[in-house]
Amino acid sequence: MAIYFDSTYAGSLASENALRAIAGEAATAYADLHGGKGKGNDFLGWLTLPRDYDKEEYARIKLAAQRIRKQSQVLIVIGIGGSYLGARAAIEFCKTQEHNREGGPEVYFAGNSLSPNTLAGLLAYCGDKDVSVNVISKSGTTTECSVVFRVFKEMLEKRYGKEEAAERIYATTEYSDRSKLNALALQEGYERFLVPDPVGGRYSVLTAVGLLPIAAAGVDTDALLKGAQDAMEEYSRSDDLFQNDALRYAAMRNLYYRAGKKIEFFASTEPDLTMLGEWLKQLFAESEGKELRGLFPASAVYTTDLHSVGQYVQQGERILFETMLNLRQPAEDITLTEIPGDIDGLNFLDGQKLSFLNRQALEGTRIAHFDGGVPNLLIEADHADEYHLGWLFYFFEKACALSGYILGVNPFDQPGVEAYKDNMFALIGKPGYEKMSKELKERIENNK
Ligand code: PA5
Repeated sequence: MAIYFDSTYAGSLASENALRAIAGEAATAYADLHGGKGKGNDFLGWLTLPRDYDKEEYARIKLAAQRIRKQSQVLIVIGIGGSYLGARAAIEFCKTQEHNREGGPEVYFAGNSLSPNTLAGLLAYCGDKDVSVNVISKSGTTTECSVVFRVFKEMLEKRYGKEEAAERIYATTEYSDRSKLNALALQEGYERFLVPDPVGGRYSVLTAVGLLPIAAAGVDTDALLKGAQDAMEEYSRSDDLFQNDALRYAAMRNLYYRAGKKIEFFASTEPDLTMLGEWLKQLFAESEGKELRGLFPASAVYTTDLHSVGQYVQQGERILFETMLNLRQPAEDITLTEIPGDIDGLNFLDGQKLSFLNRQALEGTRIAHFDGGVPNLLIEADHADEYHLGWLFYFFEKACALSGYILGVNPFDQPGVEAYKDNMFALIGKPGYEKMSKELKERIENNK
């Protein structure tokens, strides 16, 4: 097993007896998922993806990544939600938050907001650097992504001319008439990569959506896929939650929810896992937050956030439980030495490693939060490397799908995301939204 699931401080709400009581429901969820009988069963492509991925396309992804590395100083990855979070999480996990100082192409993510400041800043930064673009949208119609891509397309065409610009643009989308990005890619001759139909955005990190930018950043995608593949085998062995950590974690989440917990607080002890926290938030929130149900996922980095939200976790309303992520062995360590005069009173730490302090902070926090009424789960990996990350991605995808089934929702749709889109389309004057536009503008006017 490449990751360790420690429930020492899970507390009585998720005790062995409580787990026995929910084991039947968990086994049903497992059977529904594996038998393709549950809700959203046309979106189960991710389940066997680490084994069944398209090997020919994968070879093309690697070639494109090499080309990007050779011809670019900067890679702009344009996408939002599931079309960027996994790649960004992976690059920061494996190459640290400082990956852009490393020497390969710098990787920046765009199209995940409509902020003019952010976009203008990025364009200015690109300056006269050599740029490639990977535009990623499964639907091929997402406004944030399309708008920002327009701007970069124009920039590349001005700089390189249409032909060379087309060689620097890679489009990842579904190959269907619905996708405007697909049509554009065909028209302009961009190299295309597929988002398979049965894989939803937030489960797509191991498709070209994640793999191309991850490989272009110099991350070992073979090892990433191998980790996911081994996890797939591990969590497909048993429908007994006492034998299957992904199922047990899914069941525990539901036990906490049923006992009145409203928030799952993902906390890691490594800033380089910040984006993994963002990926987790999207995965669980879009999968479970529907039909007026679901745990609200939040995330933090410790010890940083122990000096902000830590106060609430310790003594605020008892509506949360905590899922901590930890790496057992840091890639680098620092040994403390004594200073003359022991002015700060810390000479007792002479010869001690910083990783030891980080670990003790984690242990101390777990106990303090548990004693304060916050159940604590701990998920650990040995190293911050590709193999362990692949395992973690798969563990959480599977746990999320199983948890959604135990909760009774379709974990593969996101109907709620449409509401803001419709309002935005109406307000920006998209044809077809005229009536709605009038109503919304009146509401806005009346509220002034
Ligand atoms: O998980 C999801 O399905 C969403 O978060 C999508 O990834 C996000 O809305 C972007 O969609 P698209 O890839 O179609 O642009």
